[in-house]
Amino acid sequence: MSNQNYDEALFKIGAVKPSDWKKKPAIFSDGKLSIAGHPVMEDWEDSYMQELAQIATSNGGVILELGFGLGLSANYIQQQPIDKHIIIEANEEVFAKLEEFAKNATYEVEPRLGLWEEMLPSIPDESIEGILFDTYSPNFENEEQFECEFPFFEHAYRILKKGGVFTYYSSEVSDFSPQHLQLLQTAGFSNIEKKICAVNTPDDCLYWKSKTMIAPIVKK
Ligand SMILES: C[S@@+](CC[C@H](N)C(=O)[O-])C[C@H]1O[C@@H](n2cnc3c(N)ncnc32)[C@H](O)[C@@H]1O
Repeated sequence: MSNQNYDEALFKIGAVKPSDWKKKPAIFSDGKLSIAGHPVMEDWEDSYMQELAQIATSNGGVILELGFGLGLSANYIQQQPIDKHIIIEANEEVFAKLEEFAKNATYEVEPRLGLWEEMLPSIPDESIEGILFDTYSPNFENEEQFECEFPFFEHAYRILKKGGVFTYYSSEVSDFSPQHLQLLQTAGFSNIEKKICAVNTPDDCLYWKSKTMIAPIVKK
């Protein structure tokens, strides 16, 4: 399926306002998470999540994760020596899973319920060593509908300590698009690298088709 066909398939499921996302039922089944009919997360991403977690924790310290989902990346973050793991999650039913996860975690987990767009002002400037951003946009109102990480770039730059590292679900097969790179640079980043990761995408996946995806390694 082309990217355009993906967009059309997801569009048919129907947009959900971010504020409504909070109370939509979350269905966990067969290694997948869907919310309001949207395919939010699938466990074929496991090795990619492991890679993102390794990048985000490469400096240790305080790690900020955005989007809990199936908790795959959160589990991998907890396998690295860190000081604290702050996790922001918008959906209430997913948040209930996050609270259970926090009880059994090796390193301190601070769960925060809400949209990152509402929660970020409470994160102080230059207070975070590593960021893993992996949310999902159910709202299709502009051309960046599925690139929900783009509006986050400027916030990532603000809250990262100098030398801190930022990574995220990139939606890029083998390199940053010129627009993507430009947005990172406009946010202030100049140290931008990537790793091309092999992924075992099933044929019926609605949101990704390629067999690779890049893991961004973006440092402040
Ligand atoms: C793709 S999943 C995260 C997958 C996770 N990295 C894992 O390994 O399982 C996206 C998560 O982000 C949450 N989410 C979506 N929009 C959000 C927002 N604006 N702020 C915070 N969380 C959001 C969804 O409810 C969902 O739990």
